[in-house]
Amino acid sequence: MERSFIMVKPDGVQRNLVGEIVSRFENKGFKLVGAKLMTVSKELAEEHYGEHKERPFFGELVDFITSSPVFAMVWEGENVIATARQMMGKTNPADALPGTIRGDFGVTMGKNVIHGSDSPESAGREISLWFKEDEVSEYNKQV
Ligand code: CMP
Repeated sequence: MERSFIMVKPDGVQRNLVGEIVSRFENKGFKLVGAKLMTVSKELAEEHYGEHKERPFFGELVDFITSSPVFAMVWEGENVIATARQMMGKTNPADALPGTIRGDFGVTMGKNVIHGSDSPESAGREISLWFKEDEVSEYNKQV
């Protein structure tokens, strides 16, 4: 079954949006298999955002994501990677449609509340970067 790495960024945690975001994924029918509130080290931030290393906003991005805790999650379900991207909305909150997480709560490109893996390759890389194997649970949903 497909898995995606989803993270509520520092702005989302500070604005008390963790519960709202978890609810949206639960209500959609996805299964939470990993979650933790954590302060991100500079090393982890730089590794996670490695593909943006040459961009002018890289320093700002690393500073922001390490500035206060994030809520990191692994969600499981059919097509969870693409569906989560739809639920999050466009990266720039100004372009994100109402009803999406960034459309409803995002402020700026940098403070856009949430991150989600953009492909199966990134999901695999990000889940193993952020979670140890024993921090991700295997279980069957009974309801
Ligand atoms: P995210 O999905 O976490 O992946 C990369 C992040 O870089 C993106 O969300 C934005 O928050 C951030 N980002 C992208 N473009 C810009 C930009 N022009 N200025 C500042 N931040 C940006």
